[in-house]
Amino acid sequence: AIDISKLRDLTGHITLDLGYKNTGSTKSAITFLDGEEGILKYRGYPIEELAEKASFLEVAYLLIYGALPSDQELENFQNTISKHTLIHEDMKKFFDGFPSKSHPMAQLGSLVFSLATFYPESFKQNQTYEELNLTIIKLLAKLPTIVAFIYKKSLGHPLIYPKNKYDYVTNYLWMTFGQRTEDYEVNPKIVSAMNKLLILHADHEQNCSTSTVRIVGSSDCNLYASVSAGIAALWGPLHGGANQAVIEMLERIKEDGGDTDKWIAKAKDKNDPFRMMGFGHRVYKNFDPRAKIIKKACDDILESLGINDPVLAIAKRLEEAALTDPYFIERKLYPNVDFYSGIIYRALGFPSEFFTVLFALGRLPGWIAQWKEMKENKEPIGRPRQVYTGEVNKTMSK
Ligand code: ACO
Repeated sequence: AIDISKLRDLTGHITLDLGYKNTGSTKSAITFLDGEEGILKYRGYPIEELAEKASFLEVAYLLIYGALPSDQELENFQNTISKHTLIHEDMKKFFDGFPSKSHPMAQLGSLVFSLATFYPESFKQNQTYEELNLTIIKLLAKLPTIVAFIYKKSLGHPLIYPKNKYDYVTNYLWMTFGQRTEDYEVNPKIVSAMNKLLILHADHEQNCSTSTVRIVGSSDCNLYASVSAGIAALWGPLHGGANQAVIEMLERIKEDGGDTDKWIAKAKDKNDPFRMMGFGHRVYKNFDPRAKIIKKACDDILESLGINDPVLAIAKRLEEAALTDPYFIERKLYPNVDFYSGIIYRALGFPSEFFTVLFALGRLPGWIAQWKEMKENKEPIGRPRQVYTGEVNKTMSK
């Protein structure tokens, strides 16, 4: 029998909060989120304003260094990044080693982890500020190249190397869609859509992947390994993987005849494991402000590219029906950032398996900023407690 008094001695007083629904893990000055009111700000600036007026690189600078850059600072930042956009030629051997149909997120996590093998100075103890900053710059500079190479490899196309006269987002799109012709130009409408999407994903305080990056980093682990752990956390369909799951769900509904009422009923049925992907959020109990911006961007982009995607109509019908259904109203389930992002990514020409990789590209500045803040604040190693529920008084029979 369990000796309860002994058990209390062993565990002390523990707060048990499964899923950390109401437990703060840190203090942070990066992102402000009010889930009841549907407000999101990076370093005090409303997400709506940043998505409208800033470039992704400006937002990356804001998140990582704490203030928007001056024109000169932005130019220096862009130039420094440009010097590190190439990846080591030996890294290309990984692409040849992965099975050709392997999931892009599995490749991404491995490749980011492998950066620590190429740049061992990243795990040198007591790095100076300059050394630490160089590790940050290298990761920011190389991720678009890695992501574009994964895409090109999946198609069996030759790799396109970075062109450093381009800005960050244009360069990424060049490596992804660039043809080997002299006169190929990246479409500025796609550049602007991509900037917006990446900004909207750039940080979201202590979500699953960001908390993972911070907790791995809290053991004094290097940035590359910490971020690759964040990539693993992001892959799950309850987190970043939801953007792939949404488009697959919308496709299934379309193939099933487009009866949205039937699928809403399935989502409400507690005996059916189906969930309405892209709906609900741990923190937002009001409209996700990012979803509002993405919904509008989705209409604009499809119209400007002259694309008529039938799943957009299904998505709108689903949203309308769900928002008037008592099940969704009572539980405060609204569309989240992933509900419309996949439709835009598809319109830009990306396959659905690739959507979560694009999320990672956007979230990178947030992961870096949070990891850097955790280090600067000299936070202790993250080590949660537990409430033990197993046996305590057993002896071996032999
Ligand atoms: N469809 C149907 N019912 C839902 C949904 C949904 N998408 N989301 C939540 N519910 C219901 C639950 O069944 C539960 O009902 P109950 O009270 O009758 O048992 C209630 O709403 C509360 O749900 P929880 O799972 O407790 O909420 P939690 O905060 O733990 O989960 C989550 C949030 C994971 C986002 C959830 O809403 C979900 O699975 N959504 C679909 C996946 C998704 O879109 N994820 C992306 C999130 S955004 C991001 O990571 C970028």
